[in-house]
Amino acid sequence: MSLYSYERLRLYRKNSSIRKMMQDVMIDPAHLILPLFISDKEKKEDIMQMPYVSRLGGRYLEDHIQKCIEVGIVGFALFPVIEEHLKSEQCEEAWNDNSLMARSLRILKNRFPQALFIADIALDPFHIQGHDGLLTADGCIDNDKTVQALVQQALCYTAAGADIIAPSDMMDGRIRAISKALEESAGSQRPLILSYCTKFASCLYGPFRHAVDSARFLKGANKKTYQMDYASSFQIPREYQSDIDEGADILMVKPATLYLDVIQQLSAKKTHPIWAYHVSGECSLIWNGAQNGILNFEDALIESLFAMKRAGSQCIITYFATQAAERLKKG
Ligand code: PBG
Repeated sequence: MSLYSYERLRLYRKNSSIRKMMQDVMIDPAHLILPLFISDKEKKEDIMQMPYVSRLGGRYLEDHIQKCIEVGIVGFALFPVIEEHLKSEQCEEAWNDNSLMARSLRILKNRFPQALFIADIALDPFHIQGHDGLLTADGCIDNDKTVQALVQQALCYTAAGADIIAPSDMMDGRIRAISKALEESAGSQRPLILSYCTKFASCLYGPFRHAVDSARFLKGANKKTYQMDYASSFQIPREYQSDIDEGADILMVKPATLYLDVIQQLSAKKTHPIWAYHVSGECSLIWNGAQNGILNFEDALIESLFAMKRAGSQCIITYFATQAAERLKKG
C-alpha cells in the first residue's frame, strides 16, 4: 500500500442498508434457548434475585412456552424447583419416575412435540446440602458414586421424553457413563448429549441458586472441587477433549461473556456445535445496569449475544431469549 492511500473501511458503514449487507454474524431465534424454572405449584411466582423471570407451574408454564414458540424459540432448558421435603442426602428424587421433572417432560413433550426440551443432569436441586454431587461421610464429593446417580437421572429423563440430556455437574467420567447407558437403553433413539464441558467456578451463578432454591442449602459452601478454576488454562483443552472422547454431541461453555476466549478455542476445532450459557449473573448485570440508567437493556443484551456468536457459539442459552428474539425481529 502506498504512503498516500489508506483503507476506506467507512464505506462499509455508509448507511443502514450497507451496514446490514455487510453483516456476517447472524442470530436466529431458533438458536436462542430459554431456561425455565418449573415448579409443582399452579402459579407464577416471582424470584427476588431474578426479577426478569418467574417460577412457573401448570398452565402458567404451558402458556408461557406457547408464547415463546410464537416468537421463534424452539429450545427450552428445564430446571426444577424442588420442595424441601423432597431434598435428601442421596438425592433419590433425581431419578424418581413420578418427579416434577419426569412428569413435566411427559406433559410438555406431548403438548409441544416440535419443541426441544433440555434436561439438566446434576443433583443440586435435590441435594439437602445444595451440591452437585453425593458426599462421603467426611464431606468430600464422591465422584464415582455421583456418576452412577447421574446415569439413573439421565435414564429417567430419557424415558420421560427429554430431547437433550445436559450434564452440568462436572464430575469426571460422567459423559462416558451416561453415553454408554443411553446407547444401551435407547440406541439410535437416544437423546443428544449436551456436555457442560468447560464450566467454571464462577461468581455469576448466585441468582440461579436462589431461583432453584439451592443457595440456602449450600450455606456459603463453594463448588471449587468440581467446577473449573478460571486461573488454570491448561485444563481447558483436557476438559473438552475428554468429553469429546467420552461421547458428547454438543459442547457448552459456561458462563459466556467472561469466557469468550474459551468459546473461541473450542469452536476453532470445527468438529462439534459449541453452545454458550449466558448465566443468571450475566443477565442480572445487564438488567440492573438498565434499571439504574447505566445502559440500554436491549442494546446491551444484543451486543453481548453478538459477542458470543462472533466467538463461535452456535446456540446461546439465555434468560432473555424472547426479548432478544423480539428485538431481532424488529431489525
Ligand atoms: C447446577 C447449575 C448451575 C447453573 C446451571 N446448573 C449453578 C451452579 O453450578 O451452582 C447456573 C446457571 C445460571 O447461573 O444461570 N447444576
